[in-house]
Amino acid sequence: MKVGIIGSGGREHAICHTLKKSNKVKEIYCFPGNAGTAEIAKNISIDLKDFENLKKFIISEKIDFIIIGPEKPLVDGIVDFLEKQKIKVFGPNKTAAQLEGSKIFTKNICEKYKIPTAKFGVFTNKKDANTFINNSNFPLVIKADNLASGKGVYICEEKNKAQEAINEIFDGKFGLAKNLLVEEFLDGEEMSYFIISDGKTIKNFGTAQDHKRVLEGDKGKNTGGMGAYSPSRLINNSLERKIINKIIKPTIKGLKELGTDYKGFLYAGLMIVKNEPYLIEYNVRMGDPECQTILPKLNSDLLDILLSCCEGSLDKTKINWHDKKSLSIVLCSKGYPEEFKKNIPIKGLNQIKLDNNMFCYHAGTKIIEKEVCSVGGRVLNFVYISESFSESRNEILKTLNLLNWDNGFFRKDIGHKVIKE
Ligand code: AMP
Ligand code: GLY
Repeated sequence: MKVGIIGSGGREHAICHTLKKSNKVKEIYCFPGNAGTAEIAKNISIDLKDFENLKKFIISEKIDFIIIGPEKPLVDGIVDFLEKQKIKVFGPNKTAAQLEGSKIFTKNICEKYKIPTAKFGVFTNKKDANTFINNSNFPLVIKADNLASGKGVYICEEKNKAQEAINEIFDGKFGLAKNLLVEEFLDGEEMSYFIISDGKTIKNFGTAQDHKRVLEGDKGKNTGGMGAYSPSRLINNSLERKIINKIIKPTIKGLKELGTDYKGFLYAGLMIVKNEPYLIEYNVRMGDPECQTILPKLNSDLLDILLSCCEGSLDKTKINWHDKKSLSIVLCSKGYPEEFKKNIPIKGLNQIKLDNNMFCYHAGTKIIEKEVCSVGGRVLNFVYISESFSESRNEILKTLNLLNWDNGFFRKDIGHKVIKE
């Protein structure tokens, strides 16, 4: 089978690498991929907004199955478009993708089905938003409604920060803003919970804890994710039942009532407060770096699982996991998440020994004049699976010290809440 993967991050390299293990996969195409996927797939540089051109390529190369990694093409309706052309594709359709594309869409479902989430208000102009915050207690959370790559969220300790956030959002910092959300601040610990669904059946696809802040001790600016560990230290049977019954199932029901099934990965970003789950946000895809952290533990054929979601047979498909502790650390370009240099060679990568425990997934990398170079903020993901989080972290730190890339930095404290020093 010929398989195509849309995306260019660590998540997509991990999906590529895991699919490669399936003896049914003959060839993989990555649109556009990175230096890591180039080793196992054909990287195709194509404008992902140009669905028509993408379709022509898929048909001319006779690619049998397309997997969508990131949210943007999902929210833009790539699944609906390809399905209309009778192309088999893994991912939710445009209606379902609003769970990530519009925070207000999700909040409305939460309200209708009594899904636990932070109390909120929606505002369409600066004046009303300001009147509301003048009468509120702090901290408060202010969010842009549209896709903002995780950056359109402000945790405001005081009124002047909230006023600043309201101005920035309505002045268009994250694109045209018709709406803004003000939310109650939830004080707890975050966890990422994943399911996979074919529209009828839902199955757990792992848990993880991401480290979104750039600095050690969870300080500094928010990033796409600096490292993660799986399973989450918070998960237990009773919490899992609550997540499924109070959050996931009512959401799927809500979508059904809107006339749509959910097919694909669904990522619930949760705040856990005293073993009670609250939905912070949905993502209609795997997390990054959670995907890289979770997939090495999979002990079943990924292609079979993803295909069964398109064929409506997930109920008959086994998803087995290794009972291991997986941890990932992201090597970033110095300066990220602000300005950083690009096209910097990363020497010595081929000296790193990868095996069944150690994985290196590329993100912002590209081959330039036969050399692997950095082209993004998050550059490489190192993942290790072992019997303990502390061993996994130590092994990665040894490797990163060996690599000693002088344009890079990374957090040494990933998993600090679960690893007792
Ligand atoms: P989001 O893009 O909605 O995931 O928000 C980004 C980050 O802001 C989350 O990962 C949380 O750390 C934080 N956050 C968002 N909403 C809330 C909330 N209501 N209470 C506390 N923290 C929040
Ligand atoms: N790790 C956070 C995300 O994928 O959105």
